[in-house]
Formats: sequence, structure tokens, C-alpha cells
Amino acid sequence: MITVQDSTLQQKIEHLYAQNQGHIFRFWDSLNTNERQELLSQVSKIDIPILKELLALQDGSEKEISGFFKLEPTEVMTLRNRKNRDSAVLPLGEEALRKGEVAAFLVAGGQGSRLGFDGPKGIFPVTPVKRKPLFQLFAEKLLYLNNKYNTRLPWYIMTSETNHDMTVQFFREMAYFGLSENDVHFFKQDMLPAFDKNGKIIMENKHRLFFNPNGHGGSLQALHKSGSLSDMEARGIRHLFYFQVDNVLVNICDPLFLGYHIAAKSQMSTKVIRKTGPEEKMGVICKINGQDGVVEYSDLGEEETFARTEDGELKYWAGNTAIHMMDVEFLLNRAGRGARLPYHKAEKNIPCIDEAGEKIKSDEKNGIKFETFIFDLLLDVQKSFTMEVQRSREFSAVKNKEGSDSPASAKRDLLRNYAGLLTQAGVPLKVDAHGIPPFEFEISPLFAQSVDDINAKKEKIPVIKQGTYLGE
Ligand code: UTP
Repeated sequence: MITVQDSTLQQKIEHLYAQNQGHIFRFWDSLNTNERQELLSQVSKIDIPILKELLALQDGSEKEISGFFKLEPTEVMTLRNRKNRDSAVLPLGEEALRKGEVAAFLVAGGQGSRLGFDGPKGIFPVTPVKRKPLFQLFAEKLLYLNNKYNTRLPWYIMTSETNHDMTVQFFREMAYFGLSENDVHFFKQDMLPAFDKNGKIIMENKHRLFFNPNGHGGSLQALHKSGSLSDMEARGIRHLFYFQVDNVLVNICDPLFLGYHIAAKSQMSTKVIRKTGPEEKMGVICKINGQDGVVEYSDLGEEETFARTEDGELKYWAGNTAIHMMDVEFLLNRAGRGARLPYHKAEKNIPCIDEAGEKIKSDEKNGIKFETFIFDLLLDVQKSFTMEVQRSREFSAVKNKEGSDSPASAKRDLLRNYAGLLTQAGVPLKVDAHGIPPFEFEISPLFAQSVDDINAKKEKIPVIKQGTYLGE
């Protein structure tokens, strides 16, 4: 066993050997001083109790999910049912915004490996004309709300070790897109080691371990550990709007959603959309042993996936958009007591080194990564609320390089939305059968986000043609 002077670190090294992780130090003798320091700094980040927990899950001696699950559809405030109620709850949400009780929370710590973009996904350009990055789109939506409700919405952004510095630097370079620097808070989520099939921590090279961010569910702990929850408490924030970095249509801090959430006295609310078909790869919200929760598409049995009601509708239709409203007091109670969400394991293809320390890339799934999911928090709440929204208006994710959920589909969905706003306000515009115009133009979130906004600015709108940009 190697020995170091720092007694805490030495203890950790002993624990690692005791957990059969001595291989981490097998190249120690050939490492230079800097490399040794780097390895030790990585070792210091390993949380031994968590490591033991992951190892038990990894070898199957403990189950990820235990027990018998009885699934049933849950109650959803559907678009049909919302018709007569929206106007009654909207003022509740608007009032909370005016009173400064609301904050936005973006989780952007993921690796975005499917998109294959070199950098944080929020930097990826998405809009048709100005090629605005996702972060700018969100910032402008917040600025719009700040103006409309005469408020200053704080924005909490979770990053991870893999993208934190680039994210913060980008915001600085872009002068926070016009937001006040004091209202944008960045913090990092924790990382977890990944394991090979024999339960050994995977090494990226001779002196680095392979760590991955601990999933969007890591936000529960990170909000607490970073002091963000205390900051919210101090600012009088009561409602936290949670969203993910890839949805170009997200209606940030939607006052209507907020109104429903407040009216329902919900601790955690969720927006859902109708799945396009049984096989769409989307988690569904349903009752799990009587409690609202999300079942990932891969965990939904074949019978449930294809089940239909008597009128032919999908039984489990409520697709999770990963858009939530959360009660800050509930978060303080849960996270403040050190609660964290369960780990899920996934087999992945992870770059590693061989016995000689040479880097290898296997084509097979050679390792196991662990992650936590924010929707598991639903299983802890006493009161939740689920609301259906229109996919075409509120959900279009950038996940893949091409095909569905890609930059191309997101651009099409943005164009369809811009065109919808104009045509509904009676502005002449040619569109095809899918509502898509024959050219690309763009409406800034600062210019208009609703038909009413367009109506109010009709005289400023020029003839729309290729490259038109409606901005402030
Ligand atoms: P995804 O599930 O799409 O994962 O994240 P990903 O890592 O970004 O992308 P792939 O799977 O490698 O292609 C959904 C949202 O959760 C955030 C992401 O940044 C995104 O907003 N997330 C994911 C985190 O903040 N931390 C994580 O550890 C994982």
C-alpha cells in the first residue's frame, strides 16, 4: 500500500484498498510528482460510504429498486379540463412572480454525449437566424418576465466538473446576456466513479479516475451544499421552476403552471405531454404503488407500454417533460436533512486503460455508471400536481446530432411556433400543412412570446421574409 503524509488521505487510501480498489495505485511508482498529486486529489473526492453503496448495487447484493410495483394511470389536469380553469389560476402565478417569490433552476451538468458538441450544451446555437445559443434563449425569456412583472428572477444553474469553467466563462463573455450578474448563480453537482464489470473503479489514464456527473437528481444535494437553498430562503423565494438545458421551447417560470401549482398546494408539479405512440422513448408519470412517480420507458413492461383504455387512448400517455415546479420549503426540508435520491445503474461504453496503462476504447459496454434522477423526488412528496401542455408549444429537445430531437427538429419547432404566433394574430404569412413557413425567420423572446404580445406590436412588424429578425 502506498503511504502519504496527510492522515485523512492515508485513511481514505486504506479504505480503498479494503474495498478492493488498490489497482488505482498500481502505476504509482512510474508517476511524476504532478501526476501523483492529481491522483491523490481525485482520491480525496471519493466518498467512501457512497463507494460502498455503489459497490453493493454494482455486484447486485443490493437491489436498485425493490418490491412489487403496482402501476395505475394518475390524475392529470388535461388540456381539455384546463379550458375553463386557466383564467382562474393565472393571477395566482402572476402575483407570485410580481412579489419576487419565484426563481428559475436550470440543470446543465450533463455530458451531452449524444449531441457530440465539444462544450456545454447551453452554448450550442439553436435559433434559425441569429444562431443564439440555448443559454441566451433562456436568459431572454427571463429578461422578458423581469420586464413584464417588474421583478428580478434569480437564476440558479447547476453545472458539473466537466463543464463548469466553460459555462461560467461563456456567461461572463456574453455579459450575462443583459441579466444582472448578482442574479445568476452557478454551482457544481457531485461526480461519481464508474466501475468495470469486476467492480473496479475505471481509470481514464494512469493517474486519473473516470468520474461522471451524478445525474440530474444530484441537484437535490447540490442545491443544498452550494448554499443555493439558503440563498433562496434569504431572498424570500418560495417556488422553484426546474428545467433542463435541451428544451428550446421551455416556457420558463410559466405563470399558469405556477398558478396551478400554488392552487393545488403541490410540493412538486410536473408538465406532461401526450406520447406520440406507445414506443416513444419517454418516461411516463403514473401512480407507482399509489404514489405519483415516473417510470422510464425502458422500465415500463410491454403490457403497460401498449395498454389502451376502452376509448382506444394510450393508458400510460403522460410523457414526462422534465419541467417541474418545486416548493422551496419542501426542498429545504428534504435536502437540508441530507436526503438524496436513489442510484440507478446503466451499462456504458467507457474509455479506460489496459493492464499496461495504455488507453483502450472498447466497442462493447465495458462499464457501469451510476446516476440519480430528479423525478424520483416525486416519490417523496405528499402532494403533487400534473398538468398537460401542448408539445408543439412547449417541448422540443436537442438530444441527438440528427433525426428526431436534434438541432434540425428544434429549429423546425421554433419556426412553427414563431409562425403560429403571427398567424394567430392575423399577420399574413404563408405556411405549409405542418405550419412551417417556406423560409427562416426569428422572433426574439424579448419581442414576443404570446399572441397578445404580437397584437400589441403589430405596427412594428415588417413583411416577414427570409432572415427577418423581430427583436428588441
Ligand atoms: P440527459 O439525460 O439528456 O443527459 O440530461 P446528458 O448527459 O445531458 O446527455 P447524453 O445522455 O450524454 O447525451 C437531461 C438534462 O439533465 C442534465 C443535462 O444537462 C440536461 O439538462 N443533467 C444530466 C445534469 O445536469 N447532470 C447530470 O449528471 C445529467
